[in-house]
Amino acid sequence: MLVNPVKRAYLALESWFNISFGTEWNPLYHLGTLSFFLFWVILVSGIYLFIPFHGSLAGAHASVEYITHDQWYAAGIMRSLHRYASDAVIITVLLHMFKEIASGRYRGFRWFSWVTGIPNLWMIVTIGITGYWLVWDQLAQYIAIGSARLMDALPIFSGAMTRNFVSGEMTDRFFILIEFLHLLGQPMLLVFMLWLHVKRLSNVDINPPRGLAMGTFIALLALSLIKPAISHAPANLSTMPQVLNIDWFYLNIYPLLEYWPEANIWILTTGLTFLLMMLPWLIPKKDGPIAVVDLDHCNGCGICFDDCPFDAITVQARTDGARFDQEVIVNPELCGACGICAGSCPASNPFRTSGGVLKTGIDMPQLPVDEMRTLTRETIAAMDGDIKILVFGCEHGLNVKRLDSDDTRSVRLICSGMLPPTLVEYALKQGADGVMVTGCRQNDCYFRFGNRWIKNRFEGKRKPILRGRANRNRIRLHGAAETDQKEIEKDLSDFRTQLTRLNQAAESASDGTG
Ligand code: HEM
Repeated sequence: MLVNPVKRAYLALESWFNISFGTEWNPLYHLGTLSFFLFWVILVSGIYLFIPFHGSLAGAHASVEYITHDQWYAAGIMRSLHRYASDAVIITVLLHMFKEIASGRYRGFRWFSWVTGIPNLWMIVTIGITGYWLVWDQLAQYIAIGSARLMDALPIFSGAMTRNFVSGEMTDRFFILIEFLHLLGQPMLLVFMLWLHVKRLSNVDINPPRGLAMGTFIALLALSLIKPAISHAPANLSTMPQVLNIDWFYLNIYPLLEYWPEANIWILTTGLTFLLMMLPWLIPKKDGPIAVVDLDHCNGCGICFDDCPFDAITVQARTDGARFDQEVIVNPELCGACGICAGSCPASNPFRTSGGVLKTGIDMPQLPVDEMRTLTRETIAAMDGDIKILVFGCEHGLNVKRLDSDDTRSVRLICSGMLPPTLVEYALKQGADGVMVTGCRQNDCYFRFGNRWIKNRFEGKRKPILRGRANRNRIRLHGAAETDQKEIEKDLSDFRTQLTRLNQAAESASDGTG
């Protein structure tokens, strides 16, 4: 399998970052929101720089020099923040992309987020290029000539662009066009593309945790003070720029022009873009059957609508004449088949029917709530040993079957969020001494919110809540990726010890010796 070693490498990196940053502030769990935060830094610093910047061929370089040297303590710092936040955003976006590949979150129903993500990367790179152009120093001259060569290779320009840079022919009009693109045209297109990018997701958070945002800002500020951004000598179209400090995050394509014809560079970039865009179909994945609504058991409460991570559920007026006002429908295009809706439906209550089939308002054909209940009952009945621990685990984290032993047995779910809290209560009633629920690593749910919702439900912060009568000491939540077997075994062993003590205390109490 291609992704396994990649995923392993990524999980190892994540674990390493967890040690340094903790799970809450681990930047690898917040790459999308961190990219948004960096945009805010770029935007605010950009607006500030726009005030002293002179948008003309004659005035641009001098005004940037004034910003950098005369105003180093204010505008100069803003310039460096603008530069370093722009570099950082390339890192966070590339890591975000790598993470989606490593965890297989780019194909199947997610194709839309993937395909709309790729142009964002190009948009950012081209905004960076026009930004460097605006300084109108020798680096800008190098970019301008390189860009003109690339444009002229396209049949629409056929030589017209390079003429702009032959000595004396570059006009302020052209410079203003670049300024317009950098300040307005490209950012507006990027905002639209970003909106499109997250359109199919619900509850999208665009702000990273405050501590992470502060830490990132302080790091950028420190870098700006230690190594302020500077310019090259002013552009001079009658000479060839000599030594240039290339920003490899944005300008990596230009040095290639020295070795390759322009057409080859176009073939490379468009080919790579096309290949990346097609990735969801080149390594396809079949999603499971989608959620199915059973109006006979749906009262239209809308909890599943609130919980769905992919905006696949809509609430509409009742169509079956039942006494309720609303019903829910599932959009098959958007459904990720995660089952979180089945876990959120109040009708998914194993205590509702004693012998017959358990029907619920919204269910997954591949693992209906009734089957989850049967599996729970049968798995507990098959256990042997003094302490019986039932583990509910999701398919995308650690394979919990690896934890099975005489006294520990597992039930695999599509996502931990598909577990109705009442099923945990049911398991304890059926004779389990303890129940462990383990989804993906905390903050890193394959289906975005499964492990967060289950935690909130257990803590009484999200409906349907784990009822007060469920003994919390006998319930444990864990998050484990495929590579986290040691960690979960340790937690399981602690849990076993805790359950043994609880059982001993309960026995003593019933013997009257406690
Ligand atoms: C321009 C910068 C980008 C920003 C600011 C950004 C931001 C985001 C955000 C905030 C999310 C929602 C995450 C969540 O709430 O779970 C997201 C999802 C996603 N992004 Fe990006 N993204 C960017 C570029 C990209 C690129 C270049 C790709 C790869 C081609 C990509 C692929 C994805 C995918 C596949 C998802 C869906 C994840 C899921 O369904 O769990 N993004 N992005």
